[in-house]
Amino acid sequence: MRRTTSPNIISLYASMAVAIFSTAIFLLINILFHLPTTPKEYLIYTLIIFIITFIFFKFILVRFIYSKIKIIYKTIGKPLKFQNEVKEGSTNVLKTVERDVAEWAINKNKQIRELRKMEQYRKEFVGNVSHELKTPIFNAQGYIETVLDSDLDDPEFIKQYLEKANSNIERLENIVTDLLEISKFETGRIELHKEAFDLVKIIKKVFFQYQHIAQQQRVKMTVHSEENTVFVFADPKRITQVLENLISNSIKYGREDGNTDIYFHDLDDQFLVEIADDGPGISAEHLPRLFERFYRADKSRNRKINGTGLGLSIVKNIIEAHEQTINVRSELGKGTTFSFTLQKYIPE
Ligand SMILES: Nc1ncnc2c1ncn2[C@@H]1O[C@H](COP(=O)(O)OP(=O)(O)O)[C@@H](O)[C@H]1O
Ligand SMILES: [Mg+2]
Repeated sequence: MRRTTSPNIISLYASMAVAIFSTAIFLLINILFHLPTTPKEYLIYTLIIFIITFIFFKFILVRFIYSKIKIIYKTIGKPLKFQNEVKEGSTNVLKTVERDVAEWAINKNKQIRELRKMEQYRKEFVGNVSHELKTPIFNAQGYIETVLDSDLDDPEFIKQYLEKANSNIERLENIVTDLLEISKFETGRIELHKEAFDLVKIIKKVFFQYQHIAQQQRVKMTVHSEENTVFVFADPKRITQVLENLISNSIKYGREDGNTDIYFHDLDDQFLVEIADDGPGISAEHLPRLFERFYRADKSRNRKINGTGLGLSIVKNIIEAHEQTINVRSELGKGTTFSFTLQKYIPE
């Protein structure tokens, strides 16, 4: 075990040594010069030397230690709260310093690990953005070049190719709009305008909006609610965005002739909202990363379906800005259920 020696103990030993040494010299001088000194006088002499050197040593040591500790605390960026203890020369001081430095080192290590992770994430993100933007730019360019290289005598052909170029540019616009939205959330520049509203009403509006694609896929959309209204306190525009994303996903990634079902569960202060489909589902390995930007579970199948891969990331940002939570569970071949909570509106 390591012993921590306090300035008091060091000063004590040092001044004892000096006192004994100088008493010995004093004794020698007395003997050499035959001076008449009484034992009492020896004792007083030793004591005086001891006290003076003790005070001197302690003063020097404490000043020295204090100056070193001050530098340590400046380095670790922590306020030094125990000046008085240092001045008293307490043993605890050094233990406290040791503990604070160890704590600081652990924190620093953690910070470095986090920064490395974020750096990795940032690099991946830049790569993903470039890749996602490149595809529509490249496609649009291809269609326009084809038109330019043609004889320009077939208006139907030109129109068709320009429309294709246009839809790629629209996709580009969607990606950039979504990215700006995410960036606003992540830098905390999104203001929520919370109010009381009926979730059932908003869901029915979103159903209406997606009725056309649902019919094409023959997907049946149903709200299951015992009450006719479910009043929540949230930002209605943002929650509409969440529902649009989750409901459109359930249709897009569900199955033909399938179902999209919405359920509510009363949790005292909150409602749990579930959006369930009976589609092919998502395999377990993808679930933890599903809310990441640009993450797509089934890349080959998804290429055919228009989407930016940013929807769920925005959804998560919106729910978390409301200080609520969102989860997903899924079983291959059975379907996927997204569930999120919202604050209940309780009239006063
Ligand atoms: N209901 C669902 N069933 C199966 N897969 C889904 C479902 N919802 C989302 N996914 C998967 O999660 C991915 C991310 O969804 P999202 O962020 O909304 O992006 P996007 O809809 O633009 O593809 C989708 O590409 C899809 O692979
Ligand atoms: Mg989506």
